Amino acid sequence: MRTHRIAVIPGDGVGVEVLPEGLKVLRRAGEVTGNFKLETTDYPWSCKWYLEHGKMMDDDGIDRLRDSGSIYLGAVGFPGVPDHISLWGLLLPIRKEFDQYVNLRPVQMIDGIPGPLAGRKAADVDMTFIRENTEGEYVGMGGRFKQGTPDESAIQVALFTRKGIERVARYAFELARKRRHKVASATKSNALNYSMVMWDEIVAEVAKAYPDVELTTYHVDALSARMVTFPDTLDVIVASNLFGDILTDLGGALQGSMGLPAGANLNPERKYPSMFEPIHGSAPRRAGQGTANPMATVWAGAMMLEHLGETEAADLVMKALKHVALDGPRTKDLGGTAKTVEMGDALAAAIGK
Ligand code: IPM
Ligand code: MN
Repeated sequence: MRTHRIAVIPGDGVGVEVLPEGLKVLRRAGEVTGNFKLETTDYPWSCKWYLEHGKMMDDDGIDRLRDSGSIYLGAVGFPGVPDHISLWGLLLPIRKEFDQYVNLRPVQMIDGIPGPLAGRKAADVDMTFIRENTEGEYVGMGGRFKQGTPDESAIQVALFTRKGIERVARYAFELARKRRHKVASATKSNALNYSMVMWDEIVAEVAKAYPDVELTTYHVDALSARMVTFPDTLDVIVASNLFGDILTDLGGALQGSMGLPAGANLNPERKYPSMFEPIHGSAPRRAGQGTANPMATVWAGAMMLEHLGETEAADLVMKALKHVALDGPRTKDLGGTAKTVEMGDALAAAIGK
């Protein structure tokens, strides 16, 4: 029996409602396989915590997370704290400090959960996004000038490095080898004549080492349309931080509900812990009702188990999710009335069935 040490950050809003359900399902998978236990440490860092402490996490927060096997996060952000303060105080520093440069986001329709695309079934929508997660448009460099005056101005720099592009591209090509041998690169080199031209050059260089993988480069606007019109032509997509952010919300919508899509923030070298989270936010308007869908968190948990080497349990969790999607209870986002906890119970009960 292995023990995995997990740092748990439920965060804000529905994050605190869905995360316990995720843990419930993962723990059940540990029991059923008999392979592992989770030893969790809870961190209360959140907007609520900010209002008491004036910061989003303890000063030594990053150090306290450093030794965990993985980080399991709910959602961050709540009215009362500006989003750019809460996110730059918690989520974004973790991604950057732990060099979680791959943000892996599967976009897959699941049988039993209809998507918005007419005539499309699960087999048609199965792509994996590899979003660069530490630099690009999210580098956080810039400044404001003459704030509050008519001459006010702001600069927001996007920083792209050869190393940053190369490593995320390589990850995408390696992954494509395990899938359908296709990589689509999201660019905008017609308008962004420095950063995205370099992006294209470096992705093409990396592609040379993978002659068995077909690379197609799409401008991000056209790619977003293609996701809707020809989703079946897309396999692995590599994108910059902001492009990947936008495309994966579209992807989530294609899955039929933001209650489904999950993401892994990976440090592939395993020098630092990786972090797993649902893609949806804290949904302040729905918080406190116990109606959020925990499936995205459970899916993120399956990715965490996979990362921890618990392949058998990860498979069981995904099977349970597919089972419940077909004939289990339905939360509000899926047109039902089931509560978050009922859904979690159903998912846990479906492990190994
Ligand atoms: C996401 C979120 C974050 C991002 C926000 C909350 C900063 O939208 O994980 O996709 O843009 O990365
Ligand atoms: Mn997003």
